[in-house]
Amino acid sequence: MKRSCYIGVENRFSEEGKTSEFLLNGRRTSIDGAAVQTTLLDYLRDQGLTGAKEGCAEGECGACTVVMLMDDAGGSAYRAVNSCLMFAPMAAGREIYTVEALAQNGELADVQKAMAAAGGSQCGYCTPGFVMSMFAEQYRRDREGPCDPHELSGNLCRCTGYRPIRDAALSLGPAPAGEFLDRLSQPAQRLESVDHQTTTSRFSRPTTLEQCFTILAADPEARLVAGGTDVGVESNLKGTRWNHIISLEAIGELREFSETEERVLIGAGLTLNEIPARWTAAPEAFREWLVLFGSPPIRNRATLGGNLATASAIGDGAPLLLALDASVHLVSKGGKRVVPLQSFFTGYRRTALVPRELIAAIEIPKPLPTFVKFYKVAKRRMDDISTVAACMTMDWDESGRVDRCRFAFNGVAAVPLRAAAAEDAVVGQRWNEAAVERAQAALDRTLRPISDHRGSAEYRLAVAKSLVGKFLWNRRETAA
Ligand SMILES: Cc1cc2nc3c(=O)[nH]c(=O)nc-3n(C[C@H](O)[C@H](O)[C@H](O)COP(=O)(O)OP(=O)(O)OC[C@H]3O[C@@H](n4cnc5c(N)ncnc54)[C@H](O)[C@@H]3O)c2cc1C
Ligand code: FES
Ligand code: FES
Repeated sequence: MKRSCYIGVENRFSEEGKTSEFLLNGRRTSIDGAAVQTTLLDYLRDQGLTGAKEGCAEGECGACTVVMLMDDAGGSAYRAVNSCLMFAPMAAGREIYTVEALAQNGELADVQKAMAAAGGSQCGYCTPGFVMSMFAEQYRRDREGPCDPHELSGNLCRCTGYRPIRDAALSLGPAPAGEFLDRLSQPAQRLESVDHQTTTSRFSRPTTLEQCFTILAADPEARLVAGGTDVGVESNLKGTRWNHIISLEAIGELREFSETEERVLIGAGLTLNEIPARWTAAPEAFREWLVLFGSPPIRNRATLGGNLATASAIGDGAPLLLALDASVHLVSKGGKRVVPLQSFFTGYRRTALVPRELIAAIEIPKPLPTFVKFYKVAKRRMDDISTVAACMTMDWDESGRVDRCRFAFNGVAAVPLRAAAAEDAVVGQRWNEAAVERAQAALDRTLRPISDHRGSAEYRLAVAKSLVGKFLWNRRETAA
């Protein structure tokens, strides 16, 4: 397939307002007529691009991985994404590459040669997905030294075993000169608005909040979607269908970031992997948190706004942000309001958001705490949903007594929460074993976890208590 990189992609708004295109392996492709909730994966396979496979349809296996061009500090980057979790119209105006684009004139690309040489493929079902994740990593602009095998952690293989795949990744040199590399010196295509309609449903992608509120006012039942890593699973696994989906991806106001002496403001629509390049002074705990969140393809799409809006009792954004005393900036046609995150979660899967209101940004006040740790306990260390997660922070006064302390948890109640009684039990005291015991006793009195397939109530309580003990040991290690 002949590629022609960086050709301008128009989202043509014919008077019917129905046409949208994207650049697929270098060729303009129309998604006109595609059902709104067709996954990008199904769309690609319908085009005969059958390298990407469906394993799980929920972002877990990586068999569907393709790369999408995204802005990266003035240039662009190839980002691995799960095509099973994107609706086809989300591709409008984007530049997407599948495994079929890599080999040229019958010659395999470096990543394909490396996989073959290392014996990294047996049945081959997972291979195109691994190859695309490896491709994105080989072309990572800030890469120094060998490829990072952790970038493959969103790809599962059930027959080859990971050693040869890891060897293949580690054997790769710098990205070779050529069209793919040249493309990265140009920014990604700016996303335009989209109005994609079929006889039964509609997909809108406004580019401003004002446009978004106008669309919402006309159709208050429309379903909002940001990265789609929750909504896509609901669509694929529960089979939920919506008459109208409004994508927030192109709204510039949701993608802002700023940092002052007083606070950090993170746009609710920034993907998780976009945040570190902006929040360069983030506490180390933020980076510890980030790598434990889903997988690279999930982090390339998931947003903080989406994470908080789901109000999942086991969502990982909440404990981190609760411990940092964050507030959410909410916007609607009527104006803006700021709600402390502590009062944002109003019940199981319920939030303070009112209809037609969005999370615009997350504000973290400064100064940041002196000592911050994030802990995630799950059945697998990486790429898993928390059984219990906690973020703990502490500051000390000049006499060495605890001045400010936050113990925030998920997985221990119907909502993510701060354990205020445990915090009170240590403030004004020295941080030692006796303080840990007082905090643990307070957790015993106040936490009421539920039992489910991830862990019993007793287990979750025991984990929460043990993490407080770990926080003391981590502090001692750091201070030593
Ligand atoms: C394989 C996999 C692994 C995952 N791992 C983790 C994990 O480790 N930790 C974790 O916490 N979660 C995890 N998740 C869940 C999910 O990725 C996160 O909740 C993610 O942050 C959701 O963001 P999103 O932009 O994709 O949300 P979307 O799916 O786009 O939206 C989720 C909900 O939020 C609403 N919404 C989105 N943006 C806004 C906004 N700005 N204002 C108001 N409402 C909004 C949408 O209407 C929708 O109801 C995982 C999911 C998958 C599929
Ligand atoms: S099919 Fe498994 S991640 Fe997409
Ligand atoms: S080669 Fe068979 S699943 Fe990976």
